[in-house]
Amino acid sequence: MIELHRVSKVYAVGPVKVPALCDVSFRIDKGEFVVLAGPSGAGKTTLLRLLYRAEPPSDGEVEVFGQDVGTLRRAQVAALRRSIGVVFQDAKLLPVRTVYENVAFVLRVLGTPRRDITARVFDALRVVGLSSRAQAYPAQLSQGEAQRAALARAIVRRPPLLLADEPTGSLDDAMAAEILEVLRDIWAGGTTVVLATHQARVAAALRRRTLALEAGRVVKDEG
Ligand SMILES: Nc1ncnc2c1ncn2[C@@H]1O[C@H](COP(=O)(O)OP(=O)(O)O)[C@@H](O)[C@H]1O
Ligand SMILES: [Mg+2]
Repeated sequence: MIELHRVSKVYAVGPVKVPALCDVSFRIDKGEFVVLAGPSGAGKTTLLRLLYRAEPPSDGEVEVFGQDVGTLRRAQVAALRRSIGVVFQDAKLLPVRTVYENVAFVLRVLGTPRRDITARVFDALRVVGLSSRAQAYPAQLSQGEAQRAALARAIVRRPPLLLADEPTGSLDDAMAAEILEVLRDIWAGGTTVVLATHQARVAAALRRRTLALEAGRVVKDEG
């Protein structure tokens, strides 16, 4: 499903070149749950951004769903992103919309028929355990609930791949455990999951394959 071959990424900040990833190669098969571990600055976010083509690689090939994403045209990039759910540390919900509307929005822009939208939104909310909060506004949610709403929004299109970048980064332990449990359920439902975290506790608790990054290089791949 994902294959990186000798991938490097260098950011140019004015005249300065900042290396973010260096000669990274690995493969992730359909149905895997992979933890991308490593300290802050190791290159985790950069790696995820290459997968959904927020950035092109500087060198090497990034293959997702059998496509070389570095060479995609604009319309193909849009199609790629529709097949990938993404969640971040911050839930980024629209404050003036209810939970239901926040999740429904991504289906509306795709032109999904209204009756399908209702069913699919409630499906997604059920998966994340938020059915009873559909009419709440983001300000009324706990941080853990907000993150679950963001997860519902990420999976409502039923993407085969879910990327989570520090999804537990701003949560206390109990809420973090809940989010990990939801991610596990999503994975058990057949979605391939890649979770980036700098929290060694989180990586250890998951007991899944762990790719450890340090200074832009894969230093460990086990589990
Ligand atoms: N947009 C950017 N411009 C310049 N440097 C960046 C940019 N994004 C990340 N970097 C640098 O790339 C390296 C890896 O960052 P990042 O991928 O965010 O690591 P992580 O997510 O593991 O904390 C760091 O040195 C960071 O400063
Ligand atoms: Mg990061």
